[in-house]
Formats: sequence, C-alpha cells, structure tokens
Amino acid sequence: MYKCSIILAAGEGKRMKSETPKVLHKVCGKEMVNHVIDIMRKSGLEDVNVIIGKGADKVKASTESRNVSFSVQNEQLGTGHAVKCAADFLKGKQGTVAIFTGDAPLIKIETVEKLLKFHEDEGFKATLLTSVVDDAAAYGRVIRNEQGQVEKIVEFKDCSKEEAEVKEINAGMYCFDIESLLKSLEKLNNNNAQGEFYLTDVIEILKNENKPIGAMPTEFEETLGVNSRVELAQADKILRKRINKKHMENGVTIIDPENTYIGSEVEIGNDTIIYPGNVLEGKTFIGKNCILYPNSRIQDSVLEDNINVQSSVVLESRIGENTTVGPFAYIRPESVIGKSARIGDFVEIKKSTIGDNTKVSHLTYIGDAEVGSKCNFGCGTVVVNYDGKKKYKTIIGNNSFIGCNTNLVSPVEVEDNTFIAAGSTITDKVPEGSLAIARARQVNIKGWVEKNK
Ligand code: UD1
Ligand code: CA
Repeated sequence: MYKCSIILAAGEGKRMKSETPKVLHKVCGKEMVNHVIDIMRKSGLEDVNVIIGKGADKVKASTESRNVSFSVQNEQLGTGHAVKCAADFLKGKQGTVAIFTGDAPLIKIETVEKLLKFHEDEGFKATLLTSVVDDAAAYGRVIRNEQGQVEKIVEFKDCSKEEAEVKEINAGMYCFDIESLLKSLEKLNNNNAQGEFYLTDVIEILKNENKPIGAMPTEFEETLGVNSRVELAQADKILRKRINKKHMENGVTIIDPENTYIGSEVEIGNDTIIYPGNVLEGKTFIGKNCILYPNSRIQDSVLEDNINVQSSVVLESRIGENTTVGPFAYIRPESVIGKSARIGDFVEIKKSTIGDNTKVSHLTYIGDAEVGSKCNFGCGTVVVNYDGKKKYKTIIGNNSFIGCNTNLVSPVEVEDNTFIAAGSTITDKVPEGSLAIARARQVNIKGWVEKNK
C-alpha cells in the first residue's frame, strides 16, 4: 500500500524562549526535526512532507538537503489546521499517511514500522501511538469506552477532572487513511480551551462515523515531546544513553557513558577506548584501537586506527593511523595529518598537510603549509602565513629538521633533506641538502660586566 509522511514543524515553541524555531534545537547534535525525518525514511516512508510556518526559512534551510517537500502554514491555528495546509500534498493519494510531530525525536524505527503494520493489517482508518505514564502532565488524554475502544483524545486544557486523571497519553504520532483524514479535517472546529483546530479531534469525528480506530501503546521514553529546555535536556540524556549503548555493544569501551557525548552520526571502530569528557560531533569516524583520553572535541573528522588523542580540538580534518595528538593541540579545518605522526602540546595546525612520521612536538603554529614526511619541528616554530592582508603558502620537503624558534615567512620553500638552525627567520628558499642559518652572529665582549658594574 502507498505510504507517506507528514511532519508538523510550523509551531513557534513559545516555552523554549528562543530565537530558534523549536524543531531546530538539537538533540545529540542533530536538529529534532531532522531526527524525525531520518526515522521516517528508515521506516520505509520515502515521501516526506514537512509543514513549516514559524521560522519557515530556517527550518527549510536546515531540512532541505534531506529531500523533503514542504507545506506552509502561515498562521499557527493548531495541529489540525497545520495538516490541512498539507492538503495539496495529500490530494489524490490513496493509502496511509503517518503524521508525526517534529518535536519528538526519540521514537524508534521499529516502533514506527510496528505502528504502520498494525494500522494496515487491522484495516484501521486511524491508529494512534500512546503511552501510559504516572504523570500525564500536559499531554492529550486518550479516552476509551467500556469495551476499551478509543473514543477520543482530550487535550489537557479541555479535560474534565476525571479525564485529567487518565494516564494513557497521546504521543502525537499517528497513521491515517488519507481519504478519511482529508474528509475529517473539513469538519474540525476550534471550540476548545485554546481556540485551535486540533488534529486530535479527527479521532472523535471518525469514531462517530463508526470508522475503526486503533491505538498502540509504547514506552513513554519514545514519545517524549520537547516543549522546554528541561525536556530538551531529558531527550538528550535518553538519546545519548542509547547511542553510547550501541557503541559499547559494537565493542567500544566507554569508561563513563554518562559523561561522554557522541553525536548520532558518529562511527567508531572496536577496541577504541573513550575516557570521559569527550565530545564527538557531526560526521566523525574514529577507527579501531584508538584511545581518546579525557576532554577532546572532535568534529566532522576522520581518525584512522591506533590514534591517541588527549585534551585537544580536531575540526574537519583527517588523521592517519598510529599518530598521537595532544595534550592541548588544535587541529583546524582542512588539515590532513599523516601516519605515525606526532602533533604535541600547544601545537596549532590550520589548513595544512603534514606527512607521515613527521613530529611537531611542542608550541608550534603551522598554517597554509604542505609539510613532507619524516620532518622534525623544534619547539616554537611559527609559519608566518599572513602579512595582515593575504595568506601565503609554505612548502617543506621530506626529512627536514626545523630548529627551535624558527620563523618560516611565507611564501617560502624548504626542500628535502635540509637543516634549519635554531632561531632562524627563513625568507628565502632552502635548497636540498643545505643548512640554513638566518640570524645575527653572536658577539662576546670580554670584561664588559666588570666595566659596567
Ligand atoms: C500535541 C497534541 C497532544 C499530544 C502532544 C504530544 C494536539 C492538539 N495535541 O500537543 O494531544 O499529547 O502533542 O507531544 O495535537 N504545530 C504546527 N502548527 C500549529 C501548532 C503546532 O505545526 O499550528 C506543530 C508544532 O511545531 C509541534 C507539533 O505541531 O512540532 C505539536 O505542537 P505542540 O504545540 O507542541 O502540541 P502539544 O501541546 O505538545
Ligand atoms: Ca509538543
């Protein structure tokens, strides 16, 4: 049967008190609405329509790359009104539409698949996902009749005292028969406490027409809707726990999972050990047998096998196997570090290539440079890549020994098998096989101290 999906993402999220639309707040490094889109796709729902309104441009810009279509809700008149704004998307389609809210990112793929199957196998016209909780808070209540069939959903603000005590809540995740939904949307009114057109009222409308309605309970953890920063932190914690568990099951040692922050897209090889305080973000890939000592931030980077990193920042870069990084190194975007290299303490590498077996052990800046293999940088080397207006490139060949406290004034080239004396300021090419000394010769004045007492 044909299936598609609608994601509600037009609301403002007043309770977030934010300039950013609610659905763009991130959980484990990914926008909530993008979590929901990805889950829909992985559940076999290819055709995804996102309803945008408040902050539409921002939501569109953040979701566009995921190949979704959009419907616009110009005024936020409620969840039912929002779905009505997607009528053009639904028109002429026959089958099932799964409707999910963009502020509930914890739903599991297998639950969405189960919901779709239950809906279609049983021939329901509407099927809702529910969960049973001790504190139903502000969620809509699922009201069942004596036979246990779903009669309606009542929003918390519209609940009678008895209804408020019901512990089964509406997750805001549904499957509908498209034609039945479109007809019911026409019948919605806004005679309720919030003066909104509620999607939830579609259930009662269908029930009154004797259409079969299903309800499938699941864990509350999966249905958590994020309306405030407190709930955002709760969602983050739940997802983080799941992500870390998955990596541990794959053979990664995480010393303290509660204090290890791994984004949902990160991949990690087995036998890698991760100490607390590490933050792995974006599309990061960590190989096997790495040790991430405490407190690094690694974003959108590839680390090959057997790499050690300690208390460092690595952004949009690639590091070859058996290399060690840190403590306190800063590897900035577009850097490529070779194999068995060393990037030591207080070293900054920016948009540079560093060859295999090259050691940059301490207090050095390398920017806009191409460095060969088996080089050794003495303490305090500076690549002077910027003249205040433009950036220039430095090229260093293989097997070069750069003495301590050297300045390499770009653009400049240092050829293979060279040696630069400590304290040199290099402004001209150093030809292959040479020693370069670029500093004033030392003068010793005998008896000077005695004379000047
Ligand atoms: C909604 C449900 C409630 C359920 C809860 C689950 C309704 C009336 N209530 O309440 O039964 O328990 O979700 O989390 O549906 N949105 C729009 N346009 C609008 C209003 C909202 O696109 O005009 C979007 C929001 O961006 C959000 C989602 O719909 O992603 C839910 O809206 P929200 O205001 O958070 O609804 P709840 O009060 O949580
Ligand atoms: Ca909500």
